[in-house]
Amino acid sequence: MAVIELRDIRREYRLEGVMVRALRGINFSVETGEFISIMGPSGSGKSTLMNILGCLDKPSGGTYTLDGIETSCSSPDAFAQIRNKKIGFVFQAFNLLPRTQAVENVELPLFYRGKERTSGGGGLGNPLRGRERAVAVLREVGLGDRLTHLPNQLSGGQQQRVAIARAMVNDPAFILADEPTGNLDTEMALEIMSLFQALNNRGKTIIMVTHEPELAAYTKRIITLRDGEILRDQRVAEPRNAPEDLAQWRRDHNPAPQGILLDGGVPPDTGERVPRRAGGG
Ligand SMILES: Nc1ncnc2c1ncn2[C@@H]1O[C@H](COP(=O)(O)OP(=O)(O)OP(=O)(O)O)[C@@H](O)[C@H]1O
Ligand SMILES: [Mg+2]
Repeated sequence: MAVIELRDIRREYRLEGVMVRALRGINFSVETGEFISIMGPSGSGKSTLMNILGCLDKPSGGTYTLDGIETSCSSPDAFAQIRNKKIGFVFQAFNLLPRTQAVENVELPLFYRGKERTSGGGGLGNPLRGRERAVAVLREVGLGDRLTHLPNQLSGGQQQRVAIARAMVNDPAFILADEPTGNLDTEMALEIMSLFQALNNRGKTIIMVTHEPELAAYTKRIITLRDGEILRDQRVAEPRNAPEDLAQWRRDHNPAPQGILLDGGVPPDTGERVPRRAGGG
């Protein structure tokens, strides 16, 4: 089933009497289980398209159908509800609440959803069920042992995993990620791509905006924009395997395990990791 259908999406901005045509008729569909990257040079319309896909903005023309709902004619309230229920956002800057535990950050979208419920019902809006659900998704992203950590007690990669757990907690129709590894070093970026591939293998639909072809190579389909139009829409024949690249990166950057020296060799000069002399102080 198509999760997303965009038909002739146009977005014009009027700025001091001048019309800027940011999107000039975008057409594509996204099926459940796809993993897509959106690329394109600066000014090509990526953010404009992200805002429309994320129901943060409405197009000037065309139709956007999300999970069978035609979004363009919905009221502002209904539009916000579609956004809260159907889309899990992941941002470059993580956007976690400071001084708030990981598990509480993840629970947050459940409360927004809870408030929208007209009747009680004990569904995901119920705080007890919400805590269980938040713990379950944190375990799913490998942070079952960091539930009560505050954002500043977590590495960048771990903070982004909390943000991904938060994006998944409502079981959205798709995850929309905007340069999700832009603030991370290579190893953490590969961890995040490994996590996305694992989630995608379990059926999650993911759309990611990225400037980096190396990252797009981990996705299954690349849509390239230019001047507000789709320049290319390609399947990736063989996406790179992020867990394999991560393992290789770690082998390359943490050579022989410290302390195991063959033939009386000299330990590599890696500063504090060099084993201290046993005894003899
Ligand atoms: N609020 C706005 N008012 C007027 N013009 C805008 C507005 N937002 C974007 N534009 C214009 O629309 C075009 C597409 O912008 P958009 O931000 O979508 O590009 P982008 O691909 O995200 O670029 P970048 O890679 O630099 O983030 C640009 O020409 C931009 O100047
Ligand atoms: Mg942009």
